[in-house]
Amino acid sequence: MAARQFLEFASRDELAEVLSDRIAELLDLDFTSGAFASIAMSGGSTPKRMLERLGKKLGDNREMIYFALVDERFVPASDERSNERMIRNQLGLADHPDIEFLSLFAEGQNAAEVAHQAHEKLLEDEELPFDVVTLGMGTDGHTASFFPGGDNLASATNPKIENLFLPMLAPGAQEPRITMTLPPIVSAKTLVLHIEGDEKRQVYEKALEDGPADELPVRHILRHPDVNLQVYWAP
Ligand code: 6PG
Repeated sequence: MAARQFLEFASRDELAEVLSDRIAELLDLDFTSGAFASIAMSGGSTPKRMLERLGKKLGDNREMIYFALVDERFVPASDERSNERMIRNQLGLADHPDIEFLSLFAEGQNAAEVAHQAHEKLLEDEELPFDVVTLGMGTDGHTASFFPGGDNLASATNPKIENLFLPMLAPGAQEPRITMTLPPIVSAKTLVLHIEGDEKRQVYEKALEDGPADELPVRHILRHPDVNLQVYWAP
């Protein structure tokens, strides 16, 4: 049955501290079992503060963690808009060349090809379900790259879709995207939605109301029957 918890913090710093502690602890628990721990992360600007703290808390365990992206802007990792670049920088992964990081960009290939390869690789690596998946949300109600009006929105949010990643073109996205699809997101052992500011809180509250899911695509997550979502919010 769907479950949801709303955790409210007095400041963005406090949220970043608590969430990074929690994620470090969850990844560490899996690590002590001898298996690789796994996390898929969203990009954008909101998670930066939290990821910087998380990087400091991972220590040597980071070499036993499988890192993946919930979505990527289809640009090289050297581009300022790259989510991989932001995440690697914030987590301090530069000095760890052997880290397992599932990229969603490859020079000379298109987004559909890379999405397909990432799907195959993730299946081969057997990292599902993820220990942790973190989501963000835009003020248009998108999450991951489930954008209103996205050309692959119906497939990406189909609870039965077998593809783990799909390309996405959308009017509200600046560039082509690759998104993880709904099933691997909602099956995460711990699923977090990290949002900040009053405007996003209002959008989140509106998303809890009735209305077409495609208008505020975060509803596809909120309404999934098996979702167990922890919402982290600070003003
Ligand atoms: C991206 C994301 C996306 C993000 C939201 C919120 O690449 O843009 O992964 O889903 O979580 O757009 O972004 P902000 O935190 O920048 O508002």
